[in-house]
Amino acid sequence: MSRYDDLSEQLKLRPQRWLITGVAGFIGSNLLARLLSLGQQVTGLDSFITGHQANLDEVRAEVGEDAWRNFTFIEGDIRSAEDCARACAGADFVLHQAALGSVSRSIEDPVRTNDSNVNGFLNMLVAARDAKVKRFVYAASSSTYGDHPGLPKVEDVIGKPLSPYAVTKYVNELYADVFGRCYGLETAGLRYFNVFGRRQDPHGAYAAVIPQWVTAMIRNSELRINGDGETSRDFCYIDNVVQANLLAATADAQAAGKVYNIALNDRTSLNQLYQMMRELLQERFPHLRQHQPQYVGFRAGDIRDSQADIGRAREMLGYAPTHRIREGLKEAMAWYIEHLAGDH
Ligand SMILES: NC(=O)c1ccc[n+]([C@@H]2O[C@H](COP(=O)([O-])OP(=O)(O)OC[C@H]3O[C@@H](n4cnc5c(N)ncnc54)[C@H](O)[C@@H]3O)[C@@H](O)[C@H]2O)c1
Repeated sequence: MSRYDDLSEQLKLRPQRWLITGVAGFIGSNLLARLLSLGQQVTGLDSFITGHQANLDEVRAEVGEDAWRNFTFIEGDIRSAEDCARACAGADFVLHQAALGSVSRSIEDPVRTNDSNVNGFLNMLVAARDAKVKRFVYAASSSTYGDHPGLPKVEDVIGKPLSPYAVTKYVNELYADVFGRCYGLETAGLRYFNVFGRRQDPHGAYAAVIPQWVTAMIRNSELRINGDGETSRDFCYIDNVVQANLLAATADAQAAGKVYNIALNDRTSLNQLYQMMRELLQERFPHLRQHQPQYVGFRAGDIRDSQADIGRAREMLGYAPTHRIREGLKEAMAWYIEHLAGDH
């Protein structure tokens, strides 16, 4: 039995109280679905700036009314210290996901990104400290590796940030560390590497690559590949990220005060990703047999290659990813077909 299976059984027997910030977003709503299906008590906070009520509705339908009764939703903003205090009251564990994502958005509007990702983060740390939560797990980011060329990425070796977004995520790590030292708050930072899966938003200028491409493929519209397509990433399916959060919250005290890479230790180029997605979708959408991508310029703030060393998460948390990229893509494509195929 994996540590995660074991933990899932323990949680069912002894339900805990969790706070998920950013609960109406992609990762937050997936955390919510898992925790409610394990019979946990969950509070969720979201301002709906990039999240959607539809994500919450979908989780409700998925887990059923009995489990849904264990969920309390607070519409609020982490930029408000009061909202953070209200949300943290009574929580055993905080899974802090609320932030403005996207490197490009941060380059266009660094102040707004900083407001949520740094000021909001600090409000959450203060509220979690004051509420005496057992552990504060937060979404860090692989963007913290910045311009460091080494591969695979190991947690202690980082470069200079390449975007305002990357600065904010690094500042989160610094603050979390200091809250451990100064106030004894137990934290764990999860450096996610290109997460994908159900409910990742396909709409808008800042959509991530997989939802953007699946939309273009289904609609047979222009699909852009930045650069020559040999840029590579360690794409990580959402179920692996959910697992990492639950493990990080409950691992023993030695696991606290650290950051962890959360990915697969795989490297997939954009060209390979394009081929895999096309293969998975073309049975249902035969027009894809003729589909060709458009190659456009490299994107500002992007690193060339990324691949995670996941040894620390394996050893300290018992992290054991259940989905490699192809398995994850298969499940994700099925979800997008169901949700997007009607409007193409
Ligand atoms: N998706 C990825 O590949 C990835 C990679 C690295 C890090 N992350 C981090 O993971 C976290 C979750 O990302 P996601 O992909 O689910 O994005 P998302 O945009 O789907 O979810 C973020 C949620 O936070 C909410 N939110 C934002 N600012 C808020 C504020 N000021 N107050 C209250 N709620 C607010 C949004 O409404 C949204 O529901 C973020 O911290 C992001 O930086 C994501």
